[in-house]
Amino acid sequence: KKIAIIGLPMDLGQSRRGVDMGPSAIRYAGAIERLQGLHLEVEDLGDISVQREAQTTDATNLKNLSQVVQANSKLAEMVDRTVTKGVFPLVFGGDHSIAIGTLAGISKHYQNLGVIWYDAHGDLNTEETSPSGNIHGMPLAASLGMGHDSLTKLHGYVPKVKPENIVVIGARSLDPGERELIREKGIRVYTMHEIDRLGMPRVMEDAINYLKERTDGVHLSLDLDGLDPSEAPGVGTPVLGGLTYRESHLAMEMLAEADIITSAEFVEVNPILDDKNKTASMAVGLMGSLFGEKLK
Ligand code: ARG
Ligand code: MN
Ligand code: MN
Ligand code: MN
Repeated sequence: KKIAIIGLPMDLGQSRRGVDMGPSAIRYAGAIERLQGLHLEVEDLGDISVQREAQTTDATNLKNLSQVVQANSKLAEMVDRTVTKGVFPLVFGGDHSIAIGTLAGISKHYQNLGVIWYDAHGDLNTEETSPSGNIHGMPLAASLGMGHDSLTKLHGYVPKVKPENIVVIGARSLDPGERELIREKGIRVYTMHEIDRLGMPRVMEDAINYLKERTDGVHLSLDLDGLDPSEAPGVGTPVLGGLTYRESHLAMEMLAEADIITSAEFVEVNPILDDKNKTASMAVGLMGSLFGEKLK
């Protein structure tokens, strides 16, 4: 398997500085060496540059919209070219707004792209429902075709995913508008409540079977705040009561065994808020399991 790493040092999809250093922190924690150790061919395509000029439009509830759109368009191009070459795209964030670009680059290559959204949040807000105006709380909605045109139409087509092809895992902070959308669209969500009740093995088994039946590729979008803040403290929007190290490794191992993942991204690592790069190291460990460390 060939993997291309693409970094997007984006911090304009939310309000705390430092998450733009995520890609370096993840590389510094040894991502490339870890994957090479699994005999994977890894090419690092470097980081996409983020235009940081001050915002002019302020009439909407969408902070830094033009910069987020610009960087995501570049990401979509790069990811698209990567998939065209038959190479696995592995994207390092940056805040979660970059999933808009990743999914835009990937989805046109599939009839039915599946998405695993591993996150404390649903990221299903639009400018109408967002309590913050932060675009990192909107990427999954945008990919469903909901929200501002410049986000939903990114890379020239709408939508990027169908609601029935999405599985959210680890949710425990959902805004009222997000809950409504989940209900209305019938999105499959395993909240912490379900994970506590059923256990991670059963949840992953269900999620994998569900996606296997209906999709021809699955993107893993892993927000490090899906994990408990005690294990992954370097995130901008921590929420108590999250997934553990062991549950998360098990989830990655089960995905490796099922062999369904065709692209992935690791987002929201903020080294300024972190404890000795613990969160980036967590991301790298999870990548190891996702790419089959236990199977080799
Ligand atoms: N739901 C909140 C919002 O819309 C928080 C979103 C957090 N998203 C994230 N990718 N960490 O602002
Ligand atoms: Mn989150
Ligand atoms: Mn997120
Ligand atoms: Mn965040």
